Amino acid sequence: MSQNLAVKKNKVSNPVSSDELLALEAKYCSWGDTVHYAEKLNIFKSANGSFLYDDKGVEYLDLQMWYSAVNFGYRNKRLNAALKKQIDILPQLACQYLHEEKIQLATKISRRNEMTFEEKGRVHFNVGGSSALEDSLKLVRNHSGRSLVFAFMGGYHGRTLAASAITSSFRYREKFGHFGDRAFFVPYPYCFRCPYDKKKDFCDLYCLKQFERLFETEYYSVVNKKTNKCEFAAFYVEAIQGTGGYIVPPQEYFSGLKEVLDRYGILFVDDEIQMGFFRTGKLWAIEHFNVTPDIIVFGKALTNGLNPISGIWAKEKLISPQVFPPGSTHSTFSANPLGTAAGLEVMKLIEESNFAVDVPKKGQYLLARFKKLQKKYPQIGDVAGLGLAIRVEMCEKDSFTPNKELTDRIANLGLSGTLSVGGKKRGLILDVGGYYKNAFTMAPSFYITEKEMDLGVELFEEALSRALK
Ligand SMILES: Cc1ncc(COP(=O)(O)O)c(C=O)c1O
Repeated sequence: MSQNLAVKKNKVSNPVSSDELLALEAKYCSWGDTVHYAEKLNIFKSANGSFLYDDKGVEYLDLQMWYSAVNFGYRNKRLNAALKKQIDILPQLACQYLHEEKIQLATKISRRNEMTFEEKGRVHFNVGGSSALEDSLKLVRNHSGRSLVFAFMGGYHGRTLAASAITSSFRYREKFGHFGDRAFFVPYPYCFRCPYDKKKDFCDLYCLKQFERLFETEYYSVVNKKTNKCEFAAFYVEAIQGTGGYIVPPQEYFSGLKEVLDRYGILFVDDEIQMGFFRTGKLWAIEHFNVTPDIIVFGKALTNGLNPISGIWAKEKLISPQVFPPGSTHSTFSANPLGTAAGLEVMKLIEESNFAVDVPKKGQYLLARFKKLQKKYPQIGDVAGLGLAIRVEMCEKDSFTPNKELTDRIANLGLSGTLSVGGKKRGLILDVGGYYKNAFTMAPSFYITEKEMDLGVELFEEALSRALK
């Protein structure tokens, strides 16, 4: 290779400007992920606390924290230190061998669940949320000998093939063949837009009754009335729908659902990948609803977004070595030492903090601020939430017709980094979810201050009023 060519090549592989990087991204990165949902692509250079910083030094307040993976703030000193310490001691280890952090982490999660639910169980680790979800499906199939499950309309469980099969959106399955094990999708109690057009205060949980009716006769397709056996082995649940738009169900819904499921031996699988680790003010969102799940699936915030690991906790009867023996499932990077070290520190941090009080308190503050804004702008149709999982649903002027265009404009203005509260150019990071892609799903850092929340609402208002022009 001539020296000139080598220099040229080197230049291309070490671009300095963001424009060069974006040109390379356009050409060499797959567009199959979600990056190109945005109008303007940003290249972020650093992060701290609740803020991201782009290549021009513009500060973006993050109100979604990597879809609730970074609950404890960017560059959390304590968690980063745990990871750095692990790097210098035991950074790698094939997952067929044991290390202390894995055992300690599994123990902490199991003991905590034993305290909360009075159930013995075990933990199995994997890498990403969807992979853990797949492991949970193995447990369900292994236990029941059946492969069909119920899941909710509006639910999101990931994008591997099996996770897509139980995720309601057809768009995610459309191009990938026939899904023979596609879930039976049941309406979720989304009371702001009740699927049955009922009013929450008078409905007497009509949606739950409709689900229960499926079991009335074998001709409704789910149960053999002679044996009482259901064709569906489990019900996959997000206690608070995440990607569906941070929807909080009525208080009594899940205990009622569990009663129905128990009658037919159907497992209750609780997907806590987005809402787990105190996002709602409790370790698991399901704890708000007086229900003991059979399986819990978790990921995201377990490591605060550092070296990811995910996992499942299951009742002993589903995961004991007798029924789930060695080799039942495996992934090279599951339970990797960096991930378990970060996860263990997260659990210790949780034990030593008071998130059960702090998170709801901050959530109330932010909720109140958005409710106040709602009074000024009819386009804010719904503001609700639990803990620091807050939904702001954008509508037309009638406060009800979904307004996706307005939502996108606000999100894009946030990302443009051209908002200007306090005479300083700023940005705002928002995530869009919801059935109509018109809901902001807000998941700020647990360490966000009141001042930062005020700033977030001011930035949001500026983006909203500009988007309305
Ligand atoms: C509730 C829920 N389940 C599963 C997943 C999939 O997790 P992952 O993206 O880590 O595969 C997500 C991701 O957003 C989620 O929110």
